Amino acid sequence: MKGSIFKLLADFVDQTYGPDAFEDLVDATDLETAEPFVGPGNYPASDLLALVDTAVTTHEVEVEPLLRAFGRHSFPALARSVPTLLEGLDDPHSLLLNLETVIHTEVRKLDPEASPARFSAVEHGPGVLTLNYESDFGLFALVEGFLDGLADWYGVPVGYERRSTAGTSGSFLVRSGDAVGASATGPGQVATESVSARA
Ligand code: HEM
Repeated sequence: MKGSIFKLLADFVDQTYGPDAFEDLVDATDLETAEPFVGPGNYPASDLLALVDTAVTTHEVEVEPLLRAFGRHSFPALARSVPTLLEGLDDPHSLLLNLETVIHTEVRKLDPEASPARFSAVEHGPGVLTLNYESDFGLFALVEGFLDGLADWYGVPVGYERRSTAGTSGSFLVRSGDAVGASATGPGQVATESVSARA
């Protein structure tokens, strides 16, 4: 996992739990990595998951809400790191349709050591799509947190429902914009509790 993702975790933990909170987590976790995490470095994903586990115990939170909050917090920094890639992707629906082909593919080109999750999107209609997530890590709640982050970023509601999971991969039904709250006629209705929008 890229050091940049560890940096995002450090930023999230420090802002949420206090200025030394990430350092405390590192001290309290049995990590494979001995040196400090730096953005361009590449580190075992197991270290990231171990830090999340320690955060769950230390701060008495559930793992999924933690990952969701981490994703939501981190999306703006990821988006700002690739401003030109987002040109023309003017809403969450367009971004998700292009997440694999434009964004994650370019991330892999820019940094051959990066291995972001693989996605495919199937469009069902305006603002409605299925997002298929293929990963070695099964970070479903992180995907959901990024979807919350998309809602914040664009200032439009995004609703999602986890439709299926098989091992570490899965799929989500995602509605955005005017499609949120529309009555279920197709693959299913989005759970209202997972609808998110900028306040
Ligand atoms: C818009 C700009 C985005 C950029 C620049 C970006 C970039 C990245 C990078 C650099 C990684 C880490 C790769 C590694 O550590 O080797 C990553 C991982 C990941 N990305 Fe993205 N990403 C973006 C948007 C999204 C969105 C919108 C989603 C989901 C809706 C998403 C889902 C994920 C997930 C779940 C991972 C963790 C790896 C895994 O689960 O297998 N990303 N991304």
